[in-house]
Amino acid sequence: MRRITPTTNTSPGTNPPASAAPASPGQRPPKPLSAVQQTLVIPLVARALGAQIYPSHDCGDLWAKHLLERLERLGIPGQQYLADRPTVLNVLWRTGLIRRILQDFFAQHPNAWGLNLGCGLSHYFQWIDNGSNTWIDGDLPEVMALRKTLIDARPPRLRHVSVNLQNPDWWQRLRLPKRSLTQPLLLLCEGVLMYLPPDEVRQAIGQFAQYAPPGSRLVLDTMARCAIGQAQWHASVGQTEAQFHWGISQMQELTACHPRLQLRHTHSVAPSHGWMGVAMEAFWNPWGQAAPLYGLAELEVGAWE
Ligand SMILES: C[S@@+](CC[C@H](N)C(=O)[O-])C[C@H]1O[C@@H](n2cnc3c(N)ncnc32)[C@H](O)[C@@H]1O
Repeated sequence: MRRITPTTNTSPGTNPPASAAPASPGQRPPKPLSAVQQTLVIPLVARALGAQIYPSHDCGDLWAKHLLERLERLGIPGQQYLADRPTVLNVLWRTGLIRRILQDFFAQHPNAWGLNLGCGLSHYFQWIDNGSNTWIDGDLPEVMALRKTLIDARPPRLRHVSVNLQNPDWWQRLRLPKRSLTQPLLLLCEGVLMYLPPDEVRQAIGQFAQYAPPGSRLVLDTMARCAIGQAQWHASVGQTEAQFHWGISQMQELTACHPRLQLRHTHSVAPSHGWMGVAMEAFWNPWGQAAPLYGLAELEVGAWE
């Protein structure tokens, strides 16, 4: 597993302030977060503190440390999630992998646009700002209000948008400028779609595939179908009362969302968990035909129909 080291870049606002500004006395989050919105703390804690447990998976997320500190000052604690070690490892694994996928994509398309929808408090632009790409972080309005409270300054090519992926016309509502659609773009949905009803997930994926320019990429994480309805047993998600509603048995279920979609790569987290992970996956999926218990998929959008 490749170790990720922090990168430095020169864009103002891409690196966090040296220390967290003190929160005003009695300051509260702008709006209370729903159960599913609260799940954003789980990956944030893993990225901020997970290297204490898994130093070889350190993702060097300077922003996560800063944001967690500020969140705690608003009275939203997170340290308890560190006890769920498998989830911490899953998040560190996916962060490293996504970061490499993004870097490869922007190496091929240096002026392209990328979107992270259901972004929570993640901050990929700290690693992928190449001086000419544009990045949009989007989430539900309450989360974007919280993000605005916590992140004071932003470089000009890092945008924020309120978006609800359950809206049938979420893509149109983004109102992306024409220049963003003259080349492939990349959409990341990380730790999001498993919380949505299956029909709405298919609709959300289909919407992207319908309108994104040829060569665009969709990066998303997947859970096996057996996880549906089982979130109460999950050591971290169970504490939030959010529920898993979407999971898949076969990777082909992703490409079935729209004829323009092709599966480029499937990644399973299992090898990161050592021999136990590999053994469990082999037991679960002896013929290698099924979707991983937890994994990441890279999809490509083909030519216009
Ligand atoms: C587990 S968190 C993941 C956050 C972030 N992607 C990360 O990995 O740190 C789930 C996120 O999905 C967002 N979310 C849930 N339903 C959504 C929807 N319908 N549209 C947009 N975002 C949504 C939540 O607000 C929350 O920020």
